[in-house]
Amino acid sequence: MDFVFRTRTPGIPAEGLRDEYGDGRTSEIWKTIIADEKQRTQLYKDFLVGLLRENGCKRILDVACGTGIDSKMLIEEGFQVVSVDASDRMLKHAIKYRWDRRKEPGFDEWVIEEANWLTLIKDIGHLIDGGFDAVICLGNSFAHIHDTYGDQREQKQILKNFEMCLTPGGFLLIDHRNYDHLLVNRGETNNLASF
Ligand SMILES: C[S@@+](CC[C@H](N)C(=O)[O-])C[C@H]1O[C@@H](n2cnc3c(N)ncnc32)[C@H](O)[C@@H]1O
Repeated sequence: MDFVFRTRTPGIPAEGLRDEYGDGRTSEIWKTIIADEKQRTQLYKDFLVGLLRENGCKRILDVACGTGIDSKMLIEEGFQVVSVDASDRMLKHAIKYRWDRRKEPGFDEWVIEEANWLTLIKDIGHLIDGGFDAVICLGNSFAHIHDTYGDQREQKQILKNFEMCLTPGGFLLIDHRNYDHLLVNRGETNNLASF
């Protein structure tokens, strides 16, 4: 029986970043935090898959894959996906899921790496290979970046790094939740109104 987690690429750790999901609890309860996974996936699918297909995107980089929720959906829809995240606590859920579905070609080919957006090119330069048709950064992830110097230089560097992963004319998709709206309209936590 095949019982060892296989990595598709050499593991390269994310450096210089505090893992906000590193307490071992947040990653465990993430599925509760994102509420109904099926409902969220459906909402994302309708918008995202349509947009990617309409624009001929095939190879996707999910830069904030977390537990792998969006990557899994895209693989099921036939996209070729590379997934990265800075949190190994989050990634372990994606790696376990890949393992469980390893007999399926799309999941067997799924590349999952640890990477920090600030050092993205150093961390996953070996995976860029001509560029991705789309880079996705979903689930309000971009908002995790702190403005350490007060001039948003980290945000700007990260956007440049994302751009360097794209083919010319490729898509960068970042969602940003409108928490004020969510607080006023309690319960509507899984909409893409702010896409
Ligand atoms: C709110 S979670 C969303 C995860 C997933 N996209 C989802 O919707 O379930 C944000 C993710 O961004 C990742 N993240 C935050 N800052 C990062 C950075 N600088 N580099 C790489 N990943 C980062 C976190 O580790 C976390 O998994």
